Amino acid sequence: MEATGNGVIGTPATITSQGLSTGGGLGAIAIRGVGKTFKTGKTSFRALDNIDLEIRANEFVTILGPSGCGKSTLLRIVAGLEEANEGAVCVDGDSVVGPGADRGMVFQGYTLFPWLTVRQNIEYGPKLKGVSILERRAISNRYLRITRLEPFANRFPKQLSGGMKQRVAIARALANGPKVLLMDEPFGALDAQTKLEMQEALLDVWEKEKTTVLFITHDIDEAIFLSQRIIVMGAGPGRILKAYPVTLPAERTSEVREHSEFLKLRRELAALLKHKEE
Ligand SMILES: Nc1ncnc2c1ncn2[C@@H]1O[C@H](COP(=O)(O)OP(=O)(O)OP(=O)(O)O)[C@@H](O)[C@H]1O
Ligand SMILES: [Mg+2]
Repeated sequence: MEATGNGVIGTPATITSQGLSTGGGLGAIAIRGVGKTFKTGKTSFRALDNIDLEIRANEFVTILGPSGCGKSTLLRIVAGLEEANEGAVCVDGDSVVGPGADRGMVFQGYTLFPWLTVRQNIEYGPKLKGVSILERRAISNRYLRITRLEPFANRFPKQLSGGMKQRVAIARALANGPKVLLMDEPFGALDAQTKLEMQEALLDVWEKEKTTVLFITHDIDEAIFLSQRIIVMGAGPGRILKAYPVTLPAERTSEVREHSEFLKLRRELAALLKHKEE
């Protein structure tokens, strides 16, 4: 089993002309009683305490919280890159014991292979799985189209803008047919305009692909715009403070940002996070 940065390669999936089938497009995540203590020499640090979170198949959930409250640690545990000391994580009832192709990862910072073109980066995961060249081409064509990268298929990462690189990272994660997309501040380094475009592109992909998304951000507006539910975490030890359902229209156009519900939620979240960071 091998983790490759944005695309986590692991268990086999069925290959179809649409990409790698996800066995029914499910992706419900159950996080139960998860705790994590980091030990460094004689000191230990309680990073996560008794985390319980159920995420429905095809739900879009965002985690907000101050720096150091354990957001990345939790995501890495769901990805199978980190082991919990207590509790368990299941995806569609199967315990997470390591990275798997059912969970695609997109982090901040573009861990693309610099020596591969955009298309080759997208086809990397399917190629590792032994997918035929014809099928691989069908997969890369699909995700190049969805992420609007077709004109750049033969470019190398260093010839791309930050937003384009991040779209390749998303396309590369999707090419493995994940049921779940785990995203850790994927747009944190982008300029404001590119960030808004990427948010809309991500919602588009989410609607088309029916993946479950677990997304981490520091950006309250980003959390509200994208999510169906927002989980606020606090530190010392890392734990869930509160969950907010986002009752905005399903169609998230830029007008949604002026919606009274959006503004109300923004105020509430800002007050809660400000209090936590004081
Ligand atoms: N491998 C590790 N060894 C020791 N401590 C760690 C390790 N990884 C994380 N920590 C500690 O656990 C805590 C949570 O880290 P984590 O990266 O999950 O925070 P975060 O909420 O993602 O923060 P940020 O918003 O800054 O990314 C931090 O205090 C961090 O120092
Ligand atoms: Mg983090």
